[in-house]
Amino acid sequence: MSLERTLALVKPDALKAGYTGDIIKVIESNGFRIIGMKLIHLSKKLAEGFYAVHRERPFFGPLTEFMQSGPIVAMILEREDAIRKWREVMGATDPLKAAEGTLRKRFGSSIQNNATHGSDAPETAAFETKYFFSELEILS
Ligand code: RTP
Ligand code: MG
Repeated sequence: MSLERTLALVKPDALKAGYTGDIIKVIESNGFRIIGMKLIHLSKKLAEGFYAVHRERPFFGPLTEFMQSGPIVAMILEREDAIRKWREVMGATDPLKAAEGTLRKRFGSSIQNNATHGSDAPETAAFETKYFFSELEILS
């Protein structure tokens, strides 16, 4: 299998609680190469654009409020099978249902405030990495 890229976010809840370092440690120990990284404080509009696929969902308003409530860390992770593997490391969306040892189990506090984000398919990974990074901000 060839190398794949995915977008990872440390969400505002986890950054505020001081979990960024722990999350990066887990990323590195699982064999991901960080090829892009930045700190961003999203506006409501940018949060809405990022989660546009969810705009009809009842949780869209609260989700985008939450995502603009404080700074986040955005990273591009590279690895074989990166998209599936990163979602496995994060665990289920709801921290209560996430497996023991996963990031959302360890650092999430609710289905919304669940510490991290990961792209869910090659098409979304391509859209999401471009949303946050220009070509010259990505290591080759
Ligand atoms: P993400 O996109 O952030 O990696 O999370 P995911 O694929 O596991 O979950 P998704 O269905 O894409 O939902 C995006 C984010 O919306 C919030 N959410 N709130 N209140 C709710 O029922 C609810 N459901 C989802 C979470 O922050 C979730 O990660
Ligand atoms: Mg998702």
